[in-house]
Amino acid sequence: MDIRLLQPSDIPHVQHANITNLPENYFMKYYLYHALSWPQLSYVAVDVSRPKKSPYDYPRIVGYVLAKMEEDPPDGVQHGHITSLSVMRTHRRLGIAEKLMRQSRMFPFPAYSLSESEGRHTGKEGKADLVDIERAMVETFGAQYVSLHVRVSNNAALRLYRDTLGFKNEKVEAKYYADGEDAYSMKLDLGFIR
Ligand code: ACO
Repeated sequence: MDIRLLQPSDIPHVQHANITNLPENYFMKYYLYHALSWPQLSYVAVDVSRPKKSPYDYPRIVGYVLAKMEEDPPDGVQHGHITSLSVMRTHRRLGIAEKLMRQSRMFPFPAYSLSESEGRHTGKEGKADLVDIERAMVETFGAQYVSLHVRVSNNAALRLYRDTLGFKNEKVEAKYYADGEDAYSMKLDLGFIR
């Protein structure tokens, strides 16, 4: 499994994954806006084990995290925002979402590498330069915290954000989603690495 930065050419495949996995979908230009405005913050997981049928065969994107900086924060505090995260059903519970989230450079955690044999993160620290870049990105963007919304019924995502990544529930936003479901507004404070 290869976890790497989102490239503009990945966008149709990320859009496909998003439509497959979530009811919250976006126009192509919104993905492009993320990729061009904050190219350091969005990642894809690519299944490199799939054999290429031709030189034009595109690598299979099995997960993505689309992240951005909030441009006009209502609270006046610079912060990042997770727009969307998903992993294809065939590749869930392998630690891919966790790794994607930790790679988003707003997160002050060591980079992890997936063990191909075990399919789980190994817990080994990433290269020193990755950690340095990660720190630099927090400083460059001046993010104080990271926010996101998640459906109150989405137990898998809630466990990932709250138990694995340390996000806290801020509040419930009533009828946040188009179908009337409420959202938890969640935050991860980044102040402790300053
Ligand atoms: N049930 C309970 N806990 C879960 C589940 C689940 N089905 N899936 C993940 N978790 C929790 C566990 O604590 C897990 O750790 P563990 O395996 O050691 O117990 C931890 O999250 C990490 O799991 P990963 O393997 O990294 O998660 P995965 O790669 O399977 O992706 C995701 C999780 C993204 C929620 C996936 O189920 C998915 O794509 N769901 C549909 C799309 C979605 O709901 N996206 C989030 C919307 S919110 C937003 O985008 C801001």
